Amino acid sequence: MKKVFVSILALVMAGIVSVSCAGCGSDNSKKQSDAATAASSEAKVDGIDYMALVNKTHKLPSDWEKNLKTVKMTNSIKDEVEVEKKAYDAYLKLKKALKKEGITVDLDSARRSVKEQQRIMDDFTKKYGKDYALKTVAAPGYSEHHTGLALDLYLIVDGKDIVENEDMIKYTDIWAKIHDKLSDYGFILRYLKGSEHITGYGYEPWHIRYLDDVDTAKKITSKGITLEEYLGTASGAKVDIDYGKSGIYSKEDLEAAVITIKCKFASFEGCELKSIRYAGDGAVNDKNLKWLNKLNPDGKYKKIAEFLMDFRSPKNNTDKTLESNHNYKDYEWWLAQTEDGWEVVSNGYN
Ligand code: DAL
Ligand code: ZN
Repeated sequence: MKKVFVSILALVMAGIVSVSCAGCGSDNSKKQSDAATAASSEAKVDGIDYMALVNKTHKLPSDWEKNLKTVKMTNSIKDEVEVEKKAYDAYLKLKKALKKEGITVDLDSARRSVKEQQRIMDDFTKKYGKDYALKTVAAPGYSEHHTGLALDLYLIVDGKDIVENEDMIKYTDIWAKIHDKLSDYGFILRYLKGSEHITGYGYEPWHIRYLDDVDTAKKITSKGITLEEYLGTASGAKVDIDYGKSGIYSKEDLEAAVITIKCKFASFEGCELKSIRYAGDGAVNDKNLKWLNKLNPDGKYKKIAEFLMDFRSPKNNTDKTLESNHNYKDYEWWLAQTEDGWEVVSNGYN
């Protein structure tokens, strides 16, 4: 948060209007939350709501813990993992079915306390910087892992435990086979490629979510949508991405930058993303480099990029920095490339 806060503060001090609506509350988002609750009320079994939405803008329900029933297991690397009871039974069935296809999975992490999530967040922030942490780890209190219904799998290939994210992600064929089976056991894949502006996180082939309802899991999976879209809290409208032409950055660089922006945009509650485009190499100049380094004196940036976004704010928005029901055009995102990836230094109007 520090880096973004510094940049926004600096913009305000410089007399530049910043219209970030991160975390904005709105009647519209309340309506959407109500719709999510109504859609999921039928799923309440044994006291917990198996369709509960926990994400960047929806906190773990306060009464969750007292109704949660969990079991504990020990995985192949001797870590203890706690899982919601029914989710664990379903996971064992999934594991058995995968075994028949020659695929071995184990559980890396399932239920996490808020304290544990804070430890992970601190660890990632220290190692990789705030923006990388924000697109990879949920804020304490806002992690689906608190529910006990989110399971992180790892692979055992040729008897070897493949646990690190950067290693696991390479096994695309194995993940595809695993994903094919999820809905048969009431699971969905939670963080889809291309849906980062909705989920707020980068693609995670290992993070699965138990819904306790095979039909619903099948419906969501066959439509290729997120839980947010199914529950009506987010629009699944197509987003136009234009990477333009760059003599400075590769397509991969620009794709990674767009994912960073999309993950941040997911906190703009109720806002609908329309498009993101690279503003061009012309913005990569000494004047802008100086400006961004001034906004964040810790930055020491050498490589920067500007992106422009169009989005629509929700009806009856209550956030004072954002007009209601407004089409925002050419909203600016200024990023800097560091050794840990892209960092958002400033967003708003210049
Ligand atoms: N990795 C997911 C987003 C979490 O930390 O909950
Ligand atoms: Zn996870």
